[in-house]
Amino acid sequence: YKLSAAWSTLQSGGRAVDAVEKGCAQCEIDQCGGTVGYGGSPDELGETTLDAMIMDGDTMQVGAVGDLRRIKNAIGVARAVMEHTKHTLLVGESASNFAEDLGFPGENLKTSRSLSIYLKWLSQNCQPNSWKNVTPEPSKSCGPYKPANRFLQEKQRVHHELTSIHNHDTIGMVVIDKNGHVSAGTSTNGLRHKIPGRVGDAPIAGAGSYADSEVGGAACTGDGDIMMRFLPSYQAVEYMRNGMDPTLACQKAISRIRKHYPSFFGAVVCANITGSYGAACNKMVALTQFHFMVYNPSADRALEKVVNCI
Ligand SMILES: *[C@@H]1O[C@H](CO)[C@@H](O)[C@H](O)[C@H]1NC(C)=O
Repeated sequence: YKLSAAWSTLQSGGRAVDAVEKGCAQCEIDQCGGTVGYGGSPDELGETTLDAMIMDGDTMQVGAVGDLRRIKNAIGVARAVMEHTKHTLLVGESASNFAEDLGFPGENLKTSRSLSIYLKWLSQNCQPNSWKNVTPEPSKSCGPYKPANRFLQEKQRVHHELTSIHNHDTIGMVVIDKNGHVSAGTSTNGLRHKIPGRVGDAPIAGAGSYADSEVGGAACTGDGDIMMRFLPSYQAVEYMRNGMDPTLACQKAISRIRKHYPSFFGAVVCANITGSYGAACNKMVALTQFHFMVYNPSADRALEKVVNCI
């Protein structure tokens, strides 16, 4: 549905940015498997908060929101930041107020599903959570926590416990329209049981996604806390700038992260302005293949593509 929404936007004369907005917005309405939009990924207080960004590869303008509350259409608010402000990123309660002032309805993002995920987490001693080096021992107890003089090496953290394909995902889209305009965007409700205030990679330009109409675009999904340190979408676009094949550009962006975090969970999709595309993912026990969708104009439908992780 999200790809049909994006494609029909292009067919009715919309620009690439319009298609990215419509495609991601459809996912926010459909909740895309619970990982995008309202009612998913409750934080430590049971709230759902949203992160989104949109980038126009012609003007290099970006609009983004992080830790957005009460508003379902996060990509729409990101677009509004781009269209109606000189800023790039608005966050938290103030971003929600901005959205409401512009006419986005304030709604409750909780659902019975998000409430049951939250209650289950509480009943299992707040496991898993994202704390480290605190007391009481976060792998056994709920907070409130205080700093402890223990320094766990972050690389030894068991990432897959918290960050798996089942509880963390993002919609990322790259669109190239018939005039060669490139746009990219992302939308997510972030990481399950995140510490309130946590913002992942999705609304960070160059991390969640990146677009440049001279080159192409890229978008990422996975462990945003790790991936945002490497700006993999920016990196992939920069690799493609010199004519590198999109699949190879994606693979190289993944490899750079893996050098430091061998077991990180993540994937990148890449497309260049000639319409070639590819994807790559970091191979781990829980993820050996990555599925992504490509709209095929001649078949007039979305086709599922699969790559083997590297
Ligand atoms: C896009 O990728 C394809 C496949 O590697 C390549 O043949 C083409 O030259 C690339 N386009 C640009 C503009 O670099």
